Amino acid sequence: MTQFQFRNRVNAFFKSVREDIAAVQRNDPAATSKLTVLVNYSGLHAIWMHRVANRLWRTGWGQFPARVLSQIARALTGVEIHPGATIGRRFVIDHGMGVVIGETAIVGDDVMMYHGVTLGGISTKRVKRHPTIGDRVMIGAGAKLLGPIEIGSDSKVGANAVVTKSAPAGAILVGIPARNRAESASDETASAESALTETEPADSATAGATGTADSTSA
Ligand SMILES: CC(C)(COP(=O)(O)OP(=O)(O)OC[C@H]1O[C@@H](n2cnc3c(N)ncnc32)[C@H](O)[C@@H]1OP(=O)(O)O)[C@@H](O)C(=O)NCCC(=O)NCCS
Repeated sequence: MTQFQFRNRVNAFFKSVREDIAAVQRNDPAATSKLTVLVNYSGLHAIWMHRVANRLWRTGWGQFPARVLSQIARALTGVEIHPGATIGRRFVIDHGMGVVIGETAIVGDDVMMYHGVTLGGISTKRVKRHPTIGDRVMIGAGAKLLGPIEIGSDSKVGANAVVTKSAPAGAILVGIPARNRAESASDETASAESALTETEPADSATAGATGTADSTSA
């Protein structure tokens, strides 16, 4: 590696650290200073250790040390991210403890996740068996997302939801099994609108009847 490449890598590393800290400050009102975030946010420490583990994992020969590093991160932070998982930029794990992210999981950019979340597999075969999460998704505390499902960008997964099916962009997934509140809300609006359209002729009929009655009485 040339000196120029080395300097570029160091600059990129510090840039990503700065944007990680800024992402925490944007998402957590309790993150009052950069120093507080740097020292006290174990979710961030877990992500930084994962980046090293993932780099080792991708070299092939480094898979054993990568697993060891991932387990050290787990012991220190309570967050277990398999070194093979693909994690986007500015990923925030608030509180951290109890998060499990499986080997074939893919997490987009600007994802926010709380404690107790599982991105888990349901297959025992070595295939893509963990979820793919789009950009800017929020995953509430205790939510379990299982299988090779895809959660569209800008979705929200409610606390303690159990999600086993893919969801489109902008979904709001709550409950067990999770249902898409955004979809049911638009269905309700559509059925309310169609009910309104159906009642309109009846209303004009009534108005007509009233008009007739009025003219009769006049
Ligand atoms: C799912 C969530 C994103 C919805 O937020 P929202 O769009 O602002 O929705 P609201 O809070 O207005 O709630 C809308 C409805 O969904 C219900 N709801 C909200 N969150 C729910 C959840 N996790 N599970 C089941 N139902 C939920 C509400 O009771 C309400 O029901 P109603 O319409 O029958 O009264 C949010 O409630 C949530 O769970 N966020 C996770 C936050 C978290 O984990 N914080 C941890 C901090 S340590």
